[in-house]
Amino acid sequence: MKHWNTKYPERFNLDTDEDYKKWREEKLASYPRSVADLVVELKDMSAITNAEKARILELIELANMCVYTAGAAELSMASLLNLGEQIGVVATDKSTRHSKSDELTDSGILGKAIPFSTRQVHWHTDATYYGSDKTIQALFLLCKRPAIEGGSNKVLDNEVLYILLRDKDPQVLRILMRDDCFKYKNPKTGEISDQQSGKVFWTNPDGHLCHRFSFRKMDMAWSEDSEVIAARDILESVILDESEYVIEGRLESGMGLVSNNVLHTREKPVDSDDPTKKRLLFRARFYDRVNAC
Ligand SMILES: [Fe+2]
Repeated sequence: MKHWNTKYPERFNLDTDEDYKKWREEKLASYPRSVADLVVELKDMSAITNAEKARILELIELANMCVYTAGAAELSMASLLNLGEQIGVVATDKSTRHSKSDELTDSGILGKAIPFSTRQVHWHTDATYYGSDKTIQALFLLCKRPAIEGGSNKVLDNEVLYILLRDKDPQVLRILMRDDCFKYKNPKTGEISDQQSGKVFWTNPDGHLCHRFSFRKMDMAWSEDSEVIAARDILESVILDESEYVIEGRLESGMGLVSNNVLHTREKPVDSDDPTKKRLLFRARFYDRVNAC
C-alpha cells in the first residue's frame, strides 16, 4: 500500500503544490495501463481471503478500480452485495429505485433508459442526479452474460482526470469545485431541482476525491455562468482526448468491476434476440466508497 491519503493529505488542495507534485509523480508511475494490470482472481467472491482483499484495496488505491473474477460464487446480485460488505461498502441506493434498475439488460424499463437498452453510452459517472452532497461514491458490476459482440467499457480514474486538468489549468478545477456547476433537471417536465445540485469535483470528509459528470445533458441543467461554461468545455475536451491512461476491456461471464464510480463508457452491444441469452450485468451502487487506507 502507498498510504497516499495519509502521506499527502493536501494533494487536492489547489492552494499548495507540495503534496500534489509528489503524489502526482507516484500516482502516474504506478497507474495500471491495461485490464491485465487491474485483474484480481478471486477463488470465491462471496468469501474472499485476506490476500485477495489486500490486492483489491491496493488496486483501488492505485486506480480507484479493479477487475475481478468471481470464482466459485453464484453470479448474482447477492454475491455482488456480499463482495461490497467484505470490503466495507454497504449503503446502496436500491430502496429508492425501481426493483429491476440494477439488472443491466435490454429490458426497456424506465422509459427505455439507456442502461436498459443496447445503445452506446458516452463518458459518465453513475447517478449524477443525486447532487454532490449525497453522491454515489462506489460502483460495482458483475457480468452474468456478455453480449454476443461488443458491449466493452472504457474506464478512466477520476484522480487521473484531475491530474490532467490540474496540469492544463488549475483554475478550471477551482471552478469545477464550485457549488453551482449543475443541477438535476427532470427530463420529462424540465423542472430543475435545487436540492440535487452541486460540484463536479470535490473532496469528501476523509480527503478522497469525488467526481460527477456526464455528457448526457437531458437530465442536467448546467450553470450558464461564463466561467462554468468555459471550464466545462475544457473538461469535456480533456475527456474526449482519451489520454493514454484510458483502459478498455470487456467483462466476460464471471468477471466484474469494483470501482469508486470512475468515469466510464459502454460500447454498443450486439445482443441476442432470445430473452434468456441477452447481455446481463448486475450493478450495485453505494453512497460509501472503497477506502484503501
Ligand atoms: Fe454507468
